[in-house]
Amino acid sequence: MSQSSRLPGFYKSSVEERLGLVAAAADLTDEESAILSGAAGLQTDTADHMIENVVGTHSLPLGIATNFCVNGRDVLVPMAIEEPSVVAGASFAARLAREGGGFFTSSTPSHMIAQMQVLEVPNPHLARFELLSQKERLLDLANQTDPLIISLGGGARDLEVRVIEESPAGPMLVLHLIYDTLDAMGANTVNTAVEALAPTVEEITGGRVLLRILSNLADRRLARAMCTVPANALEFESDGRTFEGRDVVERIAEAYAFAAADPYRATTHNKGIMNGVDAVVIATGNDWRAIEAGAHAYAVRDGGYTALSQWEKTPEGDLVGTLEMPMAVGIVGGATRVHPLPQVALKILGVKTSLELAEIIVAVGLAQNLAALRALATEGIQRGHMSLHARQVAIAAGAAGDQIERVAAQLVQERAIRLDRAEEILGQRASESIG
Ligand code: MEV
Repeated sequence: MSQSSRLPGFYKSSVEERLGLVAAAADLTDEESAILSGAAGLQTDTADHMIENVVGTHSLPLGIATNFCVNGRDVLVPMAIEEPSVVAGASFAARLAREGGGFFTSSTPSHMIAQMQVLEVPNPHLARFELLSQKERLLDLANQTDPLIISLGGGARDLEVRVIEESPAGPMLVLHLIYDTLDAMGANTVNTAVEALAPTVEEITGGRVLLRILSNLADRRLARAMCTVPANALEFESDGRTFEGRDVVERIAEAYAFAAADPYRATTHNKGIMNGVDAVVIATGNDWRAIEAGAHAYAVRDGGYTALSQWEKTPEGDLVGTLEMPMAVGIVGGATRVHPLPQVALKILGVKTSLELAEIIVAVGLAQNLAALRALATEGIQRGHMSLHARQVAIAAGAAGDQIERVAAQLVQERAIRLDRAEEILGQRASESIG
């Protein structure tokens, strides 16, 4: 994308206008715009080839987060999510981060871990040494299963072997095959590679191989994002009360400290991060269960469950946020190719590698976290949340078209965002229009 991701008033535009703006920014064809709008999305016959027992397809709202600048490049972010406030929150926080130059990211290579469980090994420690001494032979063997990825520069990189002395099934050897899957998420590639090693590993160790499967704790495939928000960008007014920027920095740092110290809070803190992460993971056709599993396992890597992100005050009094997490996403293979939407989402993001995608996703997670902490640590989450929630309640009560905004506004004004009240309002309006 060559133009700015700052699209003032985007949220106030109609769906058609927004679609036009995004299509122009990302140079989408008419067909791609139709896919984005849902008019030409996933068809049932394609879905029938994706999973079993298909009877239809399931849709989610697709929003575009604005204001993101990642490593100096402006980027519009497609987010598929049912929860109100998430897209608005990400866009708002990205605007704050922009004041400090946006998000700066980095990542490790796309190294996946495939595991092999070896039972009944007569001498586990000796077997470990023997496996390690035959590392090159095993890596060569693993590299024979996917010539395409090898020709592109990927493939097996390393071998690690651990002895688990005690388990409900007795001692076992655990072998990790470290494999660079490049731009693919790579589940099938690494599972095939590790399956191919099994007979040779049995021969070397004298044991019995049972499981051969990737690990979703993809801690060799990390992405990182950081941002600095100048204190003055955080100053705002709410209900006649001024929140000073420096005070907001302190409050956010204190809110983070709660998550750092308490797993009950850390779980919710991380859920807020995953609001942003999952929405982009889903829009780009990636496996969000894998990302969720990896994220939470990474959050407990030091033995206690804690916050995935950190928020600190700089010596100048500004706010700095950092987030590092496993991010096993691909831009080729799997649903990214079969489902029509992910291709369009990737084009809007303008990413050319899985690493770029992983880094943007982590930047969105950090933005989402900032939006939640800023609201929670100042005016509270309900103020911003409620008007959006009210729209959903209005729709659930049967409001359509213009009625949605009108009923939602009345619910907010009455501070009664309840289905029964929305139904009553709709009933009153219907009888007024008849009478
Ligand atoms: C709601 O979906 C997410 C939050 O609960 C996150 C948080 O508490 O940090 C607002």
